[in-house]
Amino acid sequence: MNSTDLIAVVVLGALFWLYRNLDSIKEFINDQLYGDDPSLGVNSNGTRDLAEVLKDNDKNYLVLYGSQTGTAEDYAKKFGKELTARFQLRVMVADLENYDFHSLNELPDNMPVSFVISTYGEGDFPDGSVNFEQYLNELDPDMLDNLRFSIFGLGNTTYEFFNGAARKALDKLQDAGARLIGTLGEGDDGAGTTDEDYLTWKEETIELLQNELDLHEDEDKQFESSFEYTALITIGNSTSLGEPSKQYLPNATLQYNAEGEQSGPFDLSQPYVAPITETKELFQSKDRNCIHTEFDISRSEVTYQTGDHLAIWPSNSDEAVSQFLRVFELDSETIFDLKAKDSTMKLPFLCPTTIGAVVRHYLEITGPISRQTLGLLVSYAPESIKEHIVTLSKDKSLFATEILASKFNLADALLSLNHGETWTGVPWLLLIEMLPKLSPRYYSISSSSLSEPNTIHATSIVENTPNDITGTNITGVTTNLLRNIQVIKNHDDAASLPVHYDLEGPRGLFANGQLPIHVRHSTFRLPKDISAPVIMIGPGTGVAPFRGFVRERCAEVKRDGEECLEKMGKMVLFYGSRDDDDYLYRNEWVEYAATLDAKFEIDVALSRVQEQKVYVQHRLAERQEEVSKLLQNGAYVYVCGDAKRMAKDVQHAIVNILSESKGLTEPEAQEIVKAMKVAGKYQEDIW
Ligand SMILES: Cc1cc2nc3c(=O)[nH]c(=O)nc-3n(C[C@H](O)[C@H](O)[C@H](O)COP(=O)(O)OP(=O)(O)OC[C@H]3O[C@@H](n4cnc5c(N)ncnc54)[C@H](O)[C@@H]3O)c2cc1C
Ligand SMILES: NC(=O)c1ccc[n+]([C@@H]2O[C@H](COP(=O)([O-])OP(=O)(O)OC[C@H]3O[C@@H](n4cnc5c(N)ncnc54)[C@H](OP(=O)(O)O)[C@@H]3O)[C@@H](O)[C@H]2O)c1
Ligand SMILES: Cc1cc2nc3c(=O)[nH]c(=O)nc-3n(C[C@H](O)[C@H](O)[C@H](O)COP(=O)(O)O)c2cc1C
Ligand SMILES: *[C@@H]1O[C@H](CO)[C@@H](O)[C@H](O)[C@H]1NC(C)=O
Ligand SMILES: *[C@@H]1O[C@H](CO)[C@@H](O)[C@H](O)[C@H]1NC(C)=O
Ligand SMILES: *[C@@H]1O[C@H](CO)[C@@H](O)[C@H](O)[C@H]1NC(C)=O
Ligand SMILES: *[C@@H]1O[C@H](CO)[C@@H](O)[C@H](O)[C@H]1NC(C)=O
Ligand SMILES: *[C@@H]1O[C@H](CO)[C@@H](O)[C@H](O)[C@H]1NC(C)=O
Repeated sequence: MNSTDLIAVVVLGALFWLYRNLDSIKEFINDQLYGDDPSLGVNSNGTRDLAEVLKDNDKNYLVLYGSQTGTAEDYAKKFGKELTARFQLRVMVADLENYDFHSLNELPDNMPVSFVISTYGEGDFPDGSVNFEQYLNELDPDMLDNLRFSIFGLGNTTYEFFNGAARKALDKLQDAGARLIGTLGEGDDGAGTTDEDYLTWKEETIELLQNELDLHEDEDKQFESSFEYTALITIGNSTSLGEPSKQYLPNATLQYNAEGEQSGPFDLSQPYVAPITETKELFQSKDRNCIHTEFDISRSEVTYQTGDHLAIWPSNSDEAVSQFLRVFELDSETIFDLKAKDSTMKLPFLCPTTIGAVVRHYLEITGPISRQTLGLLVSYAPESIKEHIVTLSKDKSLFATEILASKFNLADALLSLNHGETWTGVPWLLLIEMLPKLSPRYYSISSSSLSEPNTIHATSIVENTPNDITGTNITGVTTNLLRNIQVIKNHDDAASLPVHYDLEGPRGLFANGQLPIHVRHSTFRLPKDISAPVIMIGPGTGVAPFRGFVRERCAEVKRDGEECLEKMGKMVLFYGSRDDDDYLYRNEWVEYAATLDAKFEIDVALSRVQEQKVYVQHRLAERQEEVSKLLQNGAYVYVCGDAKRMAKDVQHAIVNILSESKGLTEPEAQEIVKAMKVAGKYQEDIW
């Protein structure tokens, strides 16, 4: 087969695969994730008609967002909030998922729409926005000739299709006759500039909107909450103390099936509180930690497939919680209820609840802070430092050197700016509205559903790095929680841990090492045809899903015997670590090789045991001839782990191998890799 044939075959295969699978896969993912989440469908009377809901609620501006992990949602809300605060616009901020768009060209008063959309996968829309993408695909010219819109995309230049979703939305809307106000804003997580990109876009867009809508700024702007606050005096059975979802409140009862398993759906609306049956430290090295955790799902309807992601729902550490409460002089015991002032607003968390529960379980309080956030606090800054806060909130580079470079979280920053003194009078409701929700973190499952149908394994590297300026370590919320559970379950020394957690959970819900989890289905899958060769590339924690893949194949051999092993295509794992101390699952690979005989091979690149760095891509290049032969024989390529550099370098190495061994130009080889990606023969699970 010559190279043009190869391209033709791959492209044809790709188109066929797309035709067969794309919609069903998306629908499937969508159902899995959001199908039965009642909390997402809130609007006036259950209608999905945009124009109707806007009219019913007397709104005159619309912000629509498509978000996967909440970043786009946060920006959309900030934008809406600012339009309300400065111009008294009556803004509705809504998830694209919850509406149909047939009335988009006939909105009341021809109000403009601002879209805030993030990108996933290969330039795709977030899972919940597939309906919007479908709508865009079916538009005809002039169908939106009344619509005025602005659009901000969130993405990460690390990925090949930067801001793919927002760019596509822009094209399709314009092709249908809609008029863009300003320019497409493109937030870039990769460069860490999302916040600045947003501010630039927002300033330009708001200026144009002022002309477009003849808006005048109210100089005397005061924060006005979207929620009505009621103080309560007693904790009842419907008061949340940090329960992860309403099914876990004492006034509710959990559902079980006939086999006595807890019933789902288990998704972003409700997790399963899973017992941790096994947890251990995987590294020998003293300066870093990597935790292996096994979650028992046998007493629930939670299921997974090898290659899926596990979502772990964290809580904040004691240290982070008490620092936050102290800065704002909040009383953790305060009990309160919230009511949305209008029906288009959702409550941000379960209510009634307590301030302590919210700070520990529902708000993201430790991440880096944004200039916008600081700007919102200007009115509450102590007089002596107000001027400085105003300057900081307006000066990009000063903010970068004074706040970002110090890796301050909100409390660190405010304490430092106020010379260690607290900030009084910051409204609690403002904090609730300006801080992101504490959301689950995802982990590539490192077990196999065939070999471990009853447990889910996660492999997590602990984020714990020194910060010379604060004198404490910067710690990742979830990974340190997992480490705490590991240390305490194994009766090791908890005193030396950098942070500590309430492991009992609300009303003892997490006692004896349990955590809320759910499974997110992915498309990262072994080939259906067991005879296809498999090339797996996963340095560091990127090896996680490949442990699952290899265990899956071992289980198949144990089930189906010698015949299966004979049919099986060769599996090569390219793994990399710094040295022997962080070589993950070192002893296990030997066992797998014994079961799979010559069909499995691990090729290890230890990067720091010699002068020159040796990485997985160097190993690939060394074995060019063999790799090229496997590709010729229809090998599937899988890459997992670091997206910033590793995945790109590896792709480059594969392109080189293709071009050199087949005498192709580099662009030709790149086209093949692209086509392989579309055909599902080059799959990435990168983060
Ligand atoms: C699809 C997918 C699969 C993944 N699979 C795995 C996996 O198998 N194994 C794995 O280990 N990880 C995996 N991850 C990453 C994982 O989801 C988490 O992002 C990671 O574990 C960190 O979570 P955390 O809660 O501990 O840290 P977070 O609290 O979320 O902190 C994130 C990072 O920000 C830093 N940080 C915190 N506060 C500040 C501040 N104020 N200023 C500056 N920096 C700060 C932290 O040090 C940390 O590095 C995956 C991610 C995705 C999207
Ligand atoms: N944003 C960042 O700067 C950053 C850095 C590290 C990890 N991470 C995150 O953590 C995840 C896994 O990290 P980890 O701690 O498990 O990995 P790790 O232990 O830091 O790295 C695993 C191995 O990969 C090597 N490596 C470094 N750069 C590489 C590249 N460009 N191509 C191929 N190999 C490379 C490392 O070598 P050397 O370390 O000796 O160079 C090491 O041998 C990543 O996916 C990423 O999300 C992010
Ligand atoms: C698994 C994964 C895949 C991503 N794929 C892309 C991509 O293809 N193109 C892009 O521009 N950004 C990509 N991103 C970056 C996100 O769009 C970006 O982080 C965004 O801020 C997330 O917003 P959200 O929280 O609203 O979903 C990806 C991020 C993750 C975690
Ligand atoms: C919702 O209410 C509006 C008017 O308030 C009404 O016209 C519409 O039919 C209702 N929709 C549904 C689905 O009940
Ligand atoms: C809460 O529920 C428990 C157990 O169901 C019950 O004993 C208690 O009386 C209830 N408390 C209130 C205030 O309703
Ligand atoms: C329990 O209380 C919460 C919060 O008040 C409420 O949303 C939920 O519907 C109640 N559940 C039941 C089963 O009554
Ligand atoms: C802080 O981080 C460094 C580097 O990762 C580590 O060696 C040290 O033990 C950490 N300190 C604590 C208290 O965990
Ligand atoms: C952008 O993507 C790279 C690769 O996944 C990742 O290391 C980086 O943290 C991302 N940026 C943010 C802020 O998520």
